[in-house]
Amino acid sequence: MTRCLEADSATFAYEDGLDVFTNVCASVHSGHVTGIVGPNGSGKSTLLRVLCGLLKPQAGHVMLDRKRLSSFSSLERARALAFLPQAVVPIFSLSVFEVVCLGRYPHLGPLRGLRPHDRHVAERCLHDTETVSLRQRDFMTLSGGERQRVLLASILAQEPDVLLLDEPTSALDIHHQVEIFALLRRLARNGYGIAVVTHDLDHAAHFCDTLVLLAPGKGVIASGLPETVLTESLLTTAYAAPIRVAEHPVTGAPLIWAETPEEGNEC
Ligand SMILES: Nc1ncnc2c1ncn2[C@@H]1O[C@H](COP(=O)(O)OP(=O)(O)OP(=O)(O)O)[C@@H](O)[C@H]1O
Ligand SMILES: [Mg+2]
Repeated sequence: MTRCLEADSATFAYEDGLDVFTNVCASVHSGHVTGIVGPNGSGKSTLLRVLCGLLKPQAGHVMLDRKRLSSFSSLERARALAFLPQAVVPIFSLSVFEVVCLGRYPHLGPLRGLRPHDRHVAERCLHDTETVSLRQRDFMTLSGGERQRVLLASILAQEPDVLLLDEPTSALDIHHQVEIFALLRRLARNGYGIAVVTHDLDHAAHFCDTLVLLAPGKGVIASGLPETVLTESLLTTAYAAPIRVAEHPVTGAPLIWAETPEEGNEC
């Protein structure tokens, strides 16, 4: 099903705090990967939580297919959207397969157990995230990167239309980072709408269709195609530090690095 999730002029502030962002418009469409980037504390996780309905904006709205997200039941929302938080602390012991099967809950009837189809979907998600070999392990005993891939498998098992992922590759090695971003691209090609928060600007440039750039205290300062957002001027403003951009010699995508003070003086 084709979906469009939009923040429409959304303003959000935590209690007693300044606005994290004001009048933000951002959207996630079926078939597209939207990257959300910016420095620590700029509001990326907050924006994702507003988009999935966990936080309510003080002004503006979040719309799903042009209807207010708040008008959908929690089950309808769980079938449409899945959210992977930045940090997940396990509180009880479950096997990896059980954690992945938890993602099936919006598809199970009351008091109904897993059907063969649910197990099949869980197996496919283990395969897609290269976690098949972990199937019998206790989730608590996994490494940080292994946990991150299993949690991604679990929300994929939810089979939503839109995925909202907060730093899904932050604990992954270089191979698995690229594998997960490539998986996100494949999912988008198959009709998923994806919003992904990442600090890896090179991967954002290479794998995302559009980017939203936030800056602390300023909210969204740019959005659009990666090459229009990842400019030295916008990034230097966002990070309040000199950022350089070149062209990747192989992919042609923007290649980004932060200049050290010594490098800056040499220029
Ligand atoms: N529950 C909360 N109560 C009060 N302030 C909060 C809360 N959560 C976040 N903030 C503040 O809101 C701002 C945005 O935080 P947010 O977590 O959205 O940033 P972020 O861009 O995701 O940062 P990071 O890259 O470090 O994950 C920060 O100043 C943060 O301190
Ligand atoms: Mg965050």
